[in-house]
Amino acid sequence: MPTAPEQLPPPDRILSMMQGLQVSGILQAGLELGVFDAIAAGTTDALEIATATGASERGTRILLDALAALELLERDDGSYALSPQADAYLVSGRPAYLGGMMRIIGGDPAWEGYAHLAGAVRRGGTLLAEHAETPEHGFWETFAAASGGISTPAAGALADVLEPWAAARERLEILDVACGGGLYSLTLAERLGHARVTLLDWSNVLERTKETVERLGVEDRTTPIEGDVFEVALGGPYDLIVASHILHHFSEERCVELLARLAAVLRPDGRLAINEFVPGERPAEEPFPHLFSVLMLTWTREGEAHSLETYERLLEASGFARPEVRAGVGLPTRFLITSPAHA
Ligand SMILES: C[S@@+](CC[C@H](N)C(=O)[O-])C[C@H]1O[C@@H](n2cnc3c(N)ncnc32)[C@H](O)[C@@H]1O
Repeated sequence: MPTAPEQLPPPDRILSMMQGLQVSGILQAGLELGVFDAIAAGTTDALEIATATGASERGTRILLDALAALELLERDDGSYALSPQADAYLVSGRPAYLGGMMRIIGGDPAWEGYAHLAGAVRRGGTLLAEHAETPEHGFWETFAAASGGISTPAAGALADVLEPWAAARERLEILDVACGGGLYSLTLAERLGHARVTLLDWSNVLERTKETVERLGVEDRTTPIEGDVFEVALGGPYDLIVASHILHHFSEERCVELLARLAAVLRPDGRLAINEFVPGERPAEEPFPHLFSVLMLTWTREGEAHSLETYERLLEASGFARPEVRAGVGLPTRFLITSPAHA
């Protein structure tokens, strides 16, 4: 092991990882205060921006310079402008706005969770109150309301995959299990007039789902089911079941329990569409799913991003065929499309 400074590898990446918390905090403060919105509305110097956002001039100046250092703002002679990326993604109301995602990835549960990560690693699960299974946890309302920006392209991509099959069916009864904002099923329903969607989640979350239902104009073709996915009567039978970002909250045993419940209400020629982060064999090539597993470690007792081999095993154990795998859009997810094994 070399010890002379000139023989050591550069430390830059490690130092920049140490600053990751700061970078995330700076971006979050910019969004929370409405700095990007204020600049988009025409304010340019620290005093004007501080006045528009209701913050101190000193604090605003320091934050603006940090945002310029991160290349989210451009500074010229005391005047600030949005970088092209900030203009596209950080101004509320823009079609590709990602500010909601910050409330999910960087919200209070994340700060709290990462503060206790070493403890969660020691224990093998969260040190916090389990929020995946706590009935009506408030975080899921935030999630449903804030995930639209990132889910819209992904839900469109899933609808593209399912549409040719779904359009050819005489009847299209869909169950969206743990639906959140509901986009993954409702986007398909918006395209196909014969689709009817049953939306299942906690009752407080379904209040947010209603907003998507109304926005897409599909009120007359949706039915809510409130309650626990492991307990509540699922109705059916269904032609299509959508399970998006729910299985990663649970252990393999609980996943099989849930998948077997879904298999029992799916028509023999129906489809199950899973949308998930699926880690591969080379973490550095696609880091996101591996980092996401850490988030599940901080937040849940038993959740993680399961591998494709694991999903294949879980699906087989619950009566499903080997899934067809498609790449998602927007986020590095996979769509796993399967059907009952005997079909
Ligand atoms: C990560 S969000 C995914 C929402 C949506 N499917 C999507 O992909 O955007 C997980 C959802 O599962 C719901 N959920 C978690 N555990 C649940 C349970 N035991 N019963 C019903 N819903 C549950 C939460 O309320 C939340 O809406």
